[in-house]
Amino acid sequence: MQSYAGIAAQVAAQIRAGRWAPGDRLPTHRALAAEWGVAIATATRVFTELKRLGLVVGEPGRGSFVRDRSIRLVPPEYGPGPDTVYADLSVTQPLSPRRAELLRTALRDLAGAGDLDALLRQQPPGGRPADRGVAAEFLGSRGIDAESDRVFLTAGVQHGLDLVARAALSPGDVVAVDALTYPGFKMLAHAHRLHLAPIPVGPDGPDLDAMEELCLRRRVRAVYTMPTLHNPLGWVLGEQARDRLVRIARANDLMLIEDAAYAFLAEPAPAPLVSRAPERTYWLSSLSKSVAAGLRFGLLVTPPSGKATMTHTLRVHMASPPGLVAAVAVGWLADGTVDALEDAARRSAEEHQRVLRAELHDMDLLAHPRSYFAWLPIDPQQRMDRVAAELSRRGVRICTAEMFATTPHVRHGLRIAVGSPLAELPAALAAVRDALDAVPLG
Ligand SMILES: Cc1ncc(COP(=O)(O)O)c(C=O)c1O
Repeated sequence: MQSYAGIAAQVAAQIRAGRWAPGDRLPTHRALAAEWGVAIATATRVFTELKRLGLVVGEPGRGSFVRDRSIRLVPPEYGPGPDTVYADLSVTQPLSPRRAELLRTALRDLAGAGDLDALLRQQPPGGRPADRGVAAEFLGSRGIDAESDRVFLTAGVQHGLDLVARAALSPGDVVAVDALTYPGFKMLAHAHRLHLAPIPVGPDGPDLDAMEELCLRRRVRAVYTMPTLHNPLGWVLGEQARDRLVRIARANDLMLIEDAAYAFLAEPAPAPLVSRAPERTYWLSSLSKSVAAGLRFGLLVTPPSGKATMTHTLRVHMASPPGLVAAVAVGWLADGTVDALEDAARRSAEEHQRVLRAELHDMDLLAHPRSYFAWLPIDPQQRMDRVAAELSRRGVRICTAEMFATTPHVRHGLRIAVGSPLAELPAALAAVRDALDAVPLG
């Protein structure tokens, strides 16, 4: 009789050869057991192995399906091998397993009760007024008081940042950023021909003395900042730092661009900048980190003086989220689903962080206890690209400081994202340790 591993290898080869298309339903455990002449328990192990290989997804009560591998979890070139861990420590995705089921229910409810024709009409810039009202109420429950005409529905934070750049910045503008910052903002600044002025960073936040000095030397237009759960360093700025940042912004007439993509993970946190300086802050968040990045749904709050230009920008680019997405997402804002998923994400992130702390207990990690990632500073003598390449060989994907750096003068480091399933995490983290040991200094 064949072993589960042997059968899994053969079924994996059939999947890779295209016997089934992405999304196709696979035979049931019982049918597979009959086909291969093995016990059902063995068939179950085959499916577990196929899931581990990233070839199959299972949906409770519905069966197993061929995963769409065009949406990659790991780089294509790393096939499984004896040393292969096959994990992705680069993606900071939500960890919720329930979301597919929630979407199914939401679509069913929408089909039964919604005014579907309204969703098919051109959506007003920034979303339908009722939806913006719900979004404003949701933000109010989180301590952000903004009239609904300052709340715009977007297709996520990255989209919102692009809108801010179009509506409120011009090519050549100087934007102060942390020396390590979100790579998406670096790319966006490049595309909009903005000049990034790096501010040195420490474990607790940016060096605000350096920011003040910068404002004396250069005409700075804006600050891009993540005060509540910084990517990649995980800090949450305290009250004093926030107040000082606002004072600097007011003294130098700076616009504040507050990226709150991960802020929900750090709740309760000090009040956001948008509440302290609403006259000059663009605040952005989305459901990417709490619900699903593929939903492409976010919220943008503009200062009162920025709302007319933002409306115009959205009209020019026809860039509001599709009505269908907005209907589902706003429904989840209103009915408590987002609250529940955020709560679950916090607990899950906390659990993953505990595993991370345990596995790499002797390393100097910087991380918020409820974050999807941690920052591991590494020896300046050690080449980060070699460590990443060594990890790649072991089937583990990771981000190096280079992606986040806005200046060459930053400490080397790795960002370890812990979105992988808990079962895989220890092996992947052990691979990080082994790769660091395997790559010589110099
Ligand atoms: C700090 C930060 N902002 C924004 C984003 C992108 O968010 P969205 O999917 O809403 O565009 C990310 C994604 O990794 C991020 O890390």
